[in-house]
Amino acid sequence: MRGIFISMEGPDGSGKSTQLELLKKYLSDKGYEIIITREPGGTRISEAVREIILNKEYTEMSYMTEALLYASARAQLVSEVIKPAIDGGKAVISDRFVDSSAVYQGMARGLGVENVYKMNEFAIQGVMPDLTIHLDLPAKVGISRKKDQKELDRMELEALDFHEKVAEGYRKLAELAPDRIYTIDATLPIDDIHGLIIEKIENILR
Ligand code: TMP
Repeated sequence: MRGIFISMEGPDGSGKSTQLELLKKYLSDKGYEIIITREPGGTRISEAVREIILNKEYTEMSYMTEALLYASARAQLVSEVIKPAIDGGKAVISDRFVDSSAVYQGMARGLGVENVYKMNEFAIQGVMPDLTIHLDLPAKVGISRKKDQKELDRMELEALDFHEKVAEGYRKLAELAPDRIYTIDATLPIDDIHGLIIEKIENILR
C-alpha cells in the first residue's frame, strides 16, 4: 500500500479534531495503518516546544521566534514520525501542518507566505500532504466555540481581528493551491462534512 499524508487545517474551533477522528475510523476500516499527529506536537520534543509556544505568559515572543519554534517542532515531527510512516505505507493524518505557519505567521502575523515556506523547507524535507482539508469557518464562531470548551492559549487569546485574518488567509491559500487544498464549509452538520471528506479521498485513492 502506498503511504498517504492528509492534513487538516482551519481556524481555531473549526472542528478539525472531530473530523480527524471520523476520518481515522474510515481509513482504518479500509485497511490502513493510521498515524495521527498534531502540530505543534506529536513527539516528545515537539510537545515540549508546544508548551513554550502556547504559554500565555510569553507575551514578549517575537513573531520570528514564534515562526521558528513552529518550524522546529515540525522538523522533529517530520523526521521522527511523518516521513518514516509515509515511507512505510501508512496513512498519516495531521491536525495542522506547514499551511498553518503560512497562514498564521505568514499572513496574520505579516511575515510573508513565501518567507515562511522558505523557512520551513529545512524542516519538512520535501514532505507535503497529498490532500489538505480546509475547514472554513467565520473567525467569530470558531473562537466562541473554543471559549466554551477550554481556557484559551496564547494564540487563541489574540484579538478577533487576528483570527479574521487567519480565516481569510486560509481562503486565499486554498485559491493558490486548489489541487491540494479542499475547502469545506465547517458550519455544515458533522456527518455532511465527513461525507464530503470521504468522497474526496475516494477520488484520490482511485
Ligand atoms: P491547535 O490549537 O489547533 O492545536 O493549534 C495550536 C495553535 O497554534 C493554533 O492557534 C494555531 C497555531 N499555529 C500557528 O500559529 N502556526 C503553526 O504553524 C501551527 C502548526 C499552529
